[in-house]
Amino acid sequence: MTHEFLDLPQLTSATGIVRLPGSKSISNRVLLLAALASGQTEVRDLLVSDDTERMLEALKALGVCVSSLGSNGWLVKGCAGSFPVKQAELFLGNAGTAFRPLTAALALAGGDYVLKGVSRMHERPIGDLVDALRQLGADVAYLGNDGFPPLCLKSAMIRHGGVVQVRGDVSSQFLTGLLMALPLIGETATVEVIGELISKPYIEITLAIMARFGVLVKHDGWQRFTVAAGSRYLSPGVVYVEGDASSASYFLALGVIGGGPVRVEGVGRDSIQGDVKFADALADMGGQIEVGPNWMESRAPVGGLVGVDLDCNHIPDAAMTLAVVALFAKGSTTLRNIASWRVKETDRIAAMATELRKLGADVKEGDDFIRVTPVSLKPAAINTYDDHRIAMCFSLAAFGTPLRINDPKCVAKTFPDYFQRLSDVTTAAPVIAIDGPSASGKGTVAARVASALGFAYLDSGALYRLTALAAKRAGVDWNDESAVAAIAAELDVEFSETDILLDGGFVGDAIRTEEISSGASKVAALPAVREALLFRQRIFNKMPGLVGDGRDMGSVIFPRARLKVFLTASAEARAERRYKQLIEKGFSANLPDLLLDLQQRDARDSERSVAPLRQEADAKLLDTTSLTIEQAVNQVLIWSREALQ
Ligand code: DC
Repeated sequence: MTHEFLDLPQLTSATGIVRLPGSKSISNRVLLLAALASGQTEVRDLLVSDDTERMLEALKALGVCVSSLGSNGWLVKGCAGSFPVKQAELFLGNAGTAFRPLTAALALAGGDYVLKGVSRMHERPIGDLVDALRQLGADVAYLGNDGFPPLCLKSAMIRHGGVVQVRGDVSSQFLTGLLMALPLIGETATVEVIGELISKPYIEITLAIMARFGVLVKHDGWQRFTVAAGSRYLSPGVVYVEGDASSASYFLALGVIGGGPVRVEGVGRDSIQGDVKFADALADMGGQIEVGPNWMESRAPVGGLVGVDLDCNHIPDAAMTLAVVALFAKGSTTLRNIASWRVKETDRIAAMATELRKLGADVKEGDDFIRVTPVSLKPAAINTYDDHRIAMCFSLAAFGTPLRINDPKCVAKTFPDYFQRLSDVTTAAPVIAIDGPSASGKGTVAARVASALGFAYLDSGALYRLTALAAKRAGVDWNDESAVAAIAAELDVEFSETDILLDGGFVGDAIRTEEISSGASKVAALPAVREALLFRQRIFNKMPGLVGDGRDMGSVIFPRARLKVFLTASAEARAERRYKQLIEKGFSANLPDLLLDLQQRDARDSERSVAPLRQEADAKLLDTTSLTIEQAVNQVLIWSREALQ
């Protein structure tokens, strides 16, 4: 399996407008009720994601006629409470919003079904829902561990209403599933919630959507819910799915961390999703929030963000975003009453704590809380645990440091083009990429340009030279790809103002010898070595900016560089410059040999299969054959200032 990742540069500002994808919670509830209703429903603005795909597939497998209307619209022909297919095996991935409600609906509608998911789904509890369904007479068996999917459902005599008890303190999706299925019984049924009901706003979404399909649930407080005899789902004709309020949280957070204003469209004051309350939490932290009927906008506070101590029971998903915003606030932030995080796509408390610590944060976790105290952030590779929200919320940490997000495609669960939208509304720390052949003078030019702009300087060739030197010292052959790559991955390097430290010792000219130059060119042709050095180079992409020189700065390492320069000179001119340098340093040198050597290295650097030296289409060519260093530096500075405007 290839290891996928996305490297984010340090972000410097955020501003813009984002049209949100449809809400996952609303999308899957609407699809199921449209399928159970009489009449056909046009569902507009449905979320396109893994979870809704699983629900659509399941409904099709159950014989429901579902057809695409294009541009996120679907036509669902309701089956009036009775699925046409009575025997099926359904695969529901890791979609809790499909698994729980379908379990309840199929158990009460009757038929022989097997419901399965990915292995994580089989670790997510469902026993409380099954217990409730069994009270109604449903025949539900566990095919694996007791209390967990996969499940086998069989037709059974369903009791005519009465009182059912369900626990409300593990996941509100059990109550949601049960409530949505109860109209299938036809008699009056009352659900009593045992234990404190968590995530109440999600139940409000359930009740609002059931009402939209004609079923009113009576409830006094959050303990008893009654569905009256004769309740039936009726298509409302057309349903527009609201934007996803949890997805809104990332962009609202961007606005308060990165300046703003950032506006999200698709949720607002009139939203039925409790997660819009996330905006209040941001305001508690000092964020400036404005809310319209179907939009929200955020900006950074003048005096900076402050840590808070919050009960997050009502915003469990969006609260994960707060744990990352906490990295940019003064003081600690404590998020309480979040035990449900432990049974989500992954154990989110443990995962958030582990990954936040990698970035340098001081984190305390308990059964149902997390406390984050920020310190200055350091680059890290963040694991995402097949959890879309971990991937999305950690992207915000890029305001503090460049970082790597492993398996970024997991965002497809709810927001397939999240990273594109993120990049649309953010600005990254700038990079000036200068590539060119050996001895073209690009190192000198790059270092001077960096100092004139007040930017950091990355001599990427030094990394290949250091790798060659470290391999030599370790007695590793330069052609031994995996061994050299292992050395590259573990290089203990520190760049100081005047020198480089390798394993704690100054290297000086030890990496500039002809032997190491040749070794560097050899190890640089090995794909595994280049891969091992990738993140190490990208973490230089931070504030206030970077000038990087090498062979693939503009093509591979920083393809989004603000300015790309291809700096070259004729081989003869370069050989002559190298000759003069050597003579000045008191070394003996031979011009024809130097020329030959340069030509060989040029060939190796340009003809290798990975990251060969070439001029990018969007790079500016600077031929320095007849230029002085000052002239070359001035030209690059003129281009840089233009590009940085
Ligand atoms: O720029 P330099 O001469 O210090 O580079 C040393 C070697 O490393 C050279 O053979 C090319 C290779 N290199 C590379 O492949 N990619 C880079 N970005 C920088 C250098």
